[in-house]
Amino acid sequence: MSKGNYYITTPIYYPSANLHIGNTYTTVAADAIARFKKTTGYDTFFLTGTDEHGQKLQRIAEEKGVTPKEYIDVVVDGIKDLWKLMNIDYDKFIRTTDDYHKKTVQRIFKQLYDQGDIYKDHYEGRYCTPCESFWTETQLVNGNCPDCGRPVETAREEAYFFKMSKYADRLIEYIEANPDFIQPESRKNEMLNNFLRPGLQDLCVSRTTFDWGIPVSFDEKHVIYVWVDALSNYITALGYDQDNDELYQKYWPANVHLVGKDILRFHTIYWPIMLMALGLELPKQVFGHGWLLVDGGKMSKSKGNVVDPVVLVENFGVDAVRYYLLHEIPFGQDGIFNSELFIKKTNADLANDLGNLLNRTIAMLNKYFDGEIQPPTAKEDIDDELIKLALEAPGKVEARMDALKLPEALDEIWTLVRRSNKYIDETMPWILAKDEAKKERLGTVLYNLIESLRFVAVMVSSFLPDTSAKMSEQLKIELTSWDSVASFDGTKAGTKLGVGEPIFPRIDVEKKLEELEKIREAQIKANEVPQMEPIKPEITIEDFEKIDLRVAKVLECEPVKKAKKLLKLKLEFGTETRQVISGIAQYYKPEDLVGKYVVIVANLKPVKLRGELSEGMIIAASDDKDKLFVVNPGELPTGSVVR
Ligand code: ME8
Ligand code: MG
Repeated sequence: MSKGNYYITTPIYYPSANLHIGNTYTTVAADAIARFKKTTGYDTFFLTGTDEHGQKLQRIAEEKGVTPKEYIDVVVDGIKDLWKLMNIDYDKFIRTTDDYHKKTVQRIFKQLYDQGDIYKDHYEGRYCTPCESFWTETQLVNGNCPDCGRPVETAREEAYFFKMSKYADRLIEYIEANPDFIQPESRKNEMLNNFLRPGLQDLCVSRTTFDWGIPVSFDEKHVIYVWVDALSNYITALGYDQDNDELYQKYWPANVHLVGKDILRFHTIYWPIMLMALGLELPKQVFGHGWLLVDGGKMSKSKGNVVDPVVLVENFGVDAVRYYLLHEIPFGQDGIFNSELFIKKTNADLANDLGNLLNRTIAMLNKYFDGEIQPPTAKEDIDDELIKLALEAPGKVEARMDALKLPEALDEIWTLVRRSNKYIDETMPWILAKDEAKKERLGTVLYNLIESLRFVAVMVSSFLPDTSAKMSEQLKIELTSWDSVASFDGTKAGTKLGVGEPIFPRIDVEKKLEELEKIREAQIKANEVPQMEPIKPEITIEDFEKIDLRVAKVLECEPVKKAKKLLKLKLEFGTETRQVISGIAQYYKPEDLVGKYVVIVANLKPVKLRGELSEGMIIAASDDKDKLFVVNPGELPTGSVVR
């Protein structure tokens, strides 16, 4: 029986080629919450996706010489792979370039325009023409464009505006009447005091300076502001205002939009106002989680401190990473990613506490009972504390999760793990094993440990799904439902277990840190952009036309004696021939060049090189290191002009 519906979303990600560990945080947290809700009986829908419009993406694609969609498709595949790697079990992946989304957003915009909430006016601001960007006075750097440093001018452009101010009071009332709407509490006050109470300005919701966006359906030179487009995903994904809106009817309003604190403002001001204007219900909660920092502060490529989730998963397994993200960062606050702490925590909590408990228990069962689980027929008082703790744990975990206190939920599970380890110390099975008369008691102790581990496997499944599956396999657990941890008797006596394998091998901290450092250095090297030679001072087209570039064909070619780098070429040049000396002997053998077409500077003043006359120069592209290619003009009549 379903306890109700539960709809949770992550932000839709910008398709950026390298998502770092901070980006994975929102999604891993949302995944754990969604899995937990499913496990505990809610009909759950978990949405994630990508935010694919905007000028920035258009520019990147242009630089790469492909269409925005071509560029983004590749990146989105990479993001989906990353979510697979992180074990993210989403129900839907929305792309804002999906057709249904674009059409619905166009209808939303039109409706808001028709009812007068969106109106046409002029946008006035400081404009950088080369960058095609408007800037506010405060964004300028020394009065110039913050992107390219060039001077800006005052410009006016036609644009659509959203009457935010009209809804501000209603939103303030709503936030005050619904204390859970913005969480954590501190962020709510920030939104009210810094943004809402000082007064809202109308929001510019269309652009005309680029076209990679959703066009305004009734005024196609405008594209819809990317945040209006992006925020709408939470309802378009459910089929809002489409032929089949079953999911929308079922799941809206969302139970929680999980977002990083940097984008809380968009989710708690613009989005609710859009919904109010559309006459729709507001999400029940927007939760702004903290920022994942590294030792030096924010992660950034230029600082070379970006933590790559793929490297971590490859080296430590996905659950070590998930555990760190979910347990070591206070949910709602900033946290630090530190490799040493990460490895130490993995060793302590996962390898020692949990891994050892499982391994020791299975090893003892093999040693004393040939792997066969015994019935718990010899109970003693000392068992009660363990059993009571186990039985109370699921309710405690659920209460923590209801308050979105993820680290605390894991703490509740680890309390049982640690209590079980203590139970081994208390009962000392190796002493019991020495006394044949205590055999039944020994069997009961091991039963209790295995049943405890079953509780752990069930409870941990939303956070560490792989670990839970491995535990279930080694312990041959049959009952894995949340209901099955309501009583302490789900383990079946008579089941025979195999020899267990450590699920979290102990890591040598020093050695692994060194390895990670090497990987990091190699990655930085691979990402280094070669320094481009500076561009020379500007010339006019007239200057350029002084250079006479022509097609020529290599007739003969031989090395120049005593000059390792030089080749002597005889070129066909219209009806004439020419001799050119070229410093390309390191890159081409004479026989490779014969028959080739080349481009020469035909009016270069002749010079003598090593006593040989050179009448012109061959054009080649080179990286000034180990690569050089003679420019190939194609087989045109020799003497043809290159311009
Ligand atoms: O903001 N620590 O997308 P995005 C924790 N497209 N979280 C971090 C982080 C860090 N170091 N860096 C990023 C967008 N994030 C918009 C959303 S929703 C309608 C549109 C989080 O790819 C960030 O806070 O820049 C956000 O929740 C998520 O990664 C995606 O960020
Ligand atoms: Mg961002």
